[in-house]
Amino acid sequence: MNSRIVIAIDGYASTGKSTLAKMLSRQYQIPFIDSGSLYRGITLYALEKGFFKDDKLDQEALSEALGGLNLRFDNETGGLYLNAENVSQKIRLPQVSDRVSNIAALTMVREFLLHQLRHMASENGLVIDGRDIGTVVFPNADYKFFFTARLEVRARRRYEELKALGQNTTFEEVLNNLIVRDQIDSSRETAPLRKADDAFEIDTSKLTKEQVFADLLEKIDAK
Ligand code: CDP
Repeated sequence: MNSRIVIAIDGYASTGKSTLAKMLSRQYQIPFIDSGSLYRGITLYALEKGFFKDDKLDQEALSEALGGLNLRFDNETGGLYLNAENVSQKIRLPQVSDRVSNIAALTMVREFLLHQLRHMASENGLVIDGRDIGTVVFPNADYKFFFTARLEVRARRRYEELKALGQNTTFEEVLNNLIVRDQIDSSRETAPLRKADDAFEIDTSKLTKEQVFADLLEKIDAK
């Protein structure tokens, strides 16, 4: 595989995109980025700075702050650094999950990250997962995949993940968050979640991550 290859994985919340993106990154020795973690990082920042007043976002304050925001995704550990602080755990908190789709629907936020993501791919290629990667960020990606899975399966997986992280949440809360995020992500005006026409669709409901991985490698090798 030559350098500067871009592999895009889009799809619904908690379908296994980041896990598989990481596996592909290792297999092909290409850097990986979980683009959702950057949207989560901006959401955390807005929360910590008090930009939400009674749950209403002060967009002007966020807009002014964006320029000074330093987000770094550590490819080795998959960790996210916000102005040098490791926020990998904090960005998974429910207060972030509850607001991230509203932040991600803002055109100014998407523009801000679009340039960063494109820049990251320019040196060594990229395996990247998100919602609009194959449609908007890298419409010319070499390989495009779109992950789906049954809602209950996704909620169960995410619930187990959060429990393992020590988070105090319920299955219903997780399920509701996935429903709301999918709805906002699919219906927003800027870069909505949708399958690119030339993406391979994979339903991961009944597959282990090894089975999905084998499927991806087969599709990549066959192209
Ligand atoms: O929970 P999950 O890992 O599936 O989601 P995520 O990848 O952490 O993304 C969190 C949120 O960021 C999504 O629900 C979207 O609102 C937003 N997002 C986006 O709008 N575009 C992307 N390319 C990636 C994430």
